[in-house]
Amino acid sequence: MKKPILLLLCLLVGMDGFAQKFEGLAETPPMGWNSWNTFATDIDEQLVKDIADKFVELGLKDAGYEYIVLDDGWMSMQRDENGNLVPDPEKFPSGMKALADYVHSKGLKFGLYNCAGSKTCAGYPGSRGYEYQDARSYAEWDVDYLKYDWCNTGKQNAVAAYTTMRDALYKAERPVVFSICEWGDNQPWTWGEDVGHLWRVTGDIINCWDCEIGHGSWSSWGIWKIINMHGNIRKAAGPGHWNDLDMMEVGNGLTDAEDRSHFAMWSMLSSPLIMGNNPLTASKETIKTLSNKEVIAVNQDKLGIQALRFTNEGDFEIWVKPLANEEWAMTFVNMADTPQNLDFDWTRHQIGDDVNGRRLEVKNTKFRIRDLYAHKEIGDTGQKLKATIGSHDVLMVRLRK
Ligand code: GLA
Repeated sequence: MKKPILLLLCLLVGMDGFAQKFEGLAETPPMGWNSWNTFATDIDEQLVKDIADKFVELGLKDAGYEYIVLDDGWMSMQRDENGNLVPDPEKFPSGMKALADYVHSKGLKFGLYNCAGSKTCAGYPGSRGYEYQDARSYAEWDVDYLKYDWCNTGKQNAVAAYTTMRDALYKAERPVVFSICEWGDNQPWTWGEDVGHLWRVTGDIINCWDCEIGHGSWSSWGIWKIINMHGNIRKAAGPGHWNDLDMMEVGNGLTDAEDRSHFAMWSMLSSPLIMGNNPLTASKETIKTLSNKEVIAVNQDKLGIQALRFTNEGDFEIWVKPLANEEWAMTFVNMADTPQNLDFDWTRHQIGDDVNGRRLEVKNTKFRIRDLYAHKEIGDTGQKLKATIGSHDVLMVRLRK
């Protein structure tokens, strides 16, 4: 067989025979906004347009936020006579393609939500049995991101269900970030890498520091409940595949100090940074926290290594994250109800990441220390690190040689 024909054949077989996820779409954790935490199903096209405008106006786009994602509630209750999903005509009279065009015109990307089951969690048509057809709709509408939930799935097998949707998206030929949302029930950190770009690791987040709110058969989880829920899943994260700690609650009622800690931890843990607040009414302090480029740079570090807990002795949670160029990020969170004095003696600690074979060698090398919230240099590892940190507040630093 002539070479060009062989090549063509391989390409054709490759397109069809070896479905895969789209590579190269989430080399660093995705950043954006999702409607659910604040608006639930009360969403419409004007909201999306206003948020796209605000992304630009408030500098959020410039800080790296890119995806505007509509969660549950964008559809009509019924498919049309051909089985196609239909956007709710009252909420989205111009349709999804026009809305995606608007978002794209601002240099941003557009995402939608659906569910692997027969119905979404809020009772709208799910994708079960319609995966390829729905994927074609998303491609026609120029959708860039799909969050795919796990309600009403009965005895469905999670790996199979998410793989089917992955394959359907690939077949539709429009690159889509695929966000797996099965709440960690089937340990997606053990299989998600080949299937999607991010996977939720817990049930739904709620805007409290460390609470669990029961709803009968399920619970919502506060910030530290989510951080503490799983043992060592950090090695599953890396460029193209991330542990998703859920849409953020920054700006949704925690104190400003708690918001700073929450944002620092999501950044340390290489979680997608998906805002869940209302950027249209957000306070200056909320926007300041969310658009802190030095903190975001830790989240977006190209190594993509998820932080590890160094210690949680005493009142401080101390987390470390190896960064590119042999730099490190460190986060000290005061878990106490009163301000506490940090007095961290570098010579008395061995800091390292065995999973990734990295050590922070402060014995022979002095690292400069930069405070990422105060935006200033605060000394080096030749001296003890001293600071007074308010209740539930954080000192987040970057160490450079
Ligand atoms: C589930 C998900 C949430 C949200 C709702 C929508 O609870 O975990 O993030 O998408 O469904 O109904």
